[in-house]
Amino acid sequence: MLEYDAEAAHYDETRGGLPRATEAAEAVLRLVSPGRAADTAGRYLDIAGGTGIVSAAVAAASGGSMIVADLSHGMLRKAAERLPGRAIQARAEALPIASASIDVVTAIWLLHLLPDAAPIVDEVARVLRPGGRLVTTVDKNAAHGHRDPDAGPPDGLARLTALAAAHGMALTGTTTFAGVGQLRPDGAVPTFTVASFAKA
Ligand SMILES: C[S@@+](CC[C@H](N)C(=O)[O-])C[C@H]1O[C@@H](n2cnc3c(N)ncnc32)[C@H](O)[C@@H]1O
Repeated sequence: MLEYDAEAAHYDETRGGLPRATEAAEAVLRLVSPGRAADTAGRYLDIAGGTGIVSAAVAAASGGSMIVADLSHGMLRKAAERLPGRAIQARAEALPIASASIDVVTAIWLLHLLPDAAPIVDEVARVLRPGGRLVTTVDKNAAHGHRDPDAGPPDGLARLTALAAAHGMALTGTTTFAGVGQLRPDGAVPTFTVASFAKA
């Protein structure tokens, strides 16, 4: 993830900063506890959490504990400033986290980067406790107005729903957030979709 090491210094300001992170965190929490805003505390793990800007916003708004994991040292240095002692370097495909120990795994703007989301979904299913949730962005390229591969995007909702089902995880809902600070080719602010899957 060398490009993210290089990008870390400017990542937040070029991705909408705190306003984008706040929008994303609010979307996550709408899915974690639909209609019950007070019921969001728990053990959170943000995979590919980058600079921790969304992780910290989720932690603050949920009242839960947060671990932020990422591959990039540069990104993690920023995350460690936001969440001291809670930032770990780890591949999302092989997390140094005990099985069935996490209430909510978040993955914001990760799965579209990968050739295949299956190894991530496998690992998330391992670390989630029964009843726990994966909350992830889906169909990110489409939100930007970019064309997806003919085989479908790695973060496509249908593909992720099938991968999750193989682990007994069911789609519980979707919501959206405004990509504040981002612009589509047509000049509009993109709307990003977030989906939640619950483990049986
Ligand atoms: C677009 S950034 C998103 C960061 C953060 N989630 C956010 O919304 O601001 C993608 C991040 O994914 C990390 N990443 C990419 N592949 C990864 C993997 N296999 N395991 C862990 N982190 C990964 C990169 O280092 C980078 O920080």
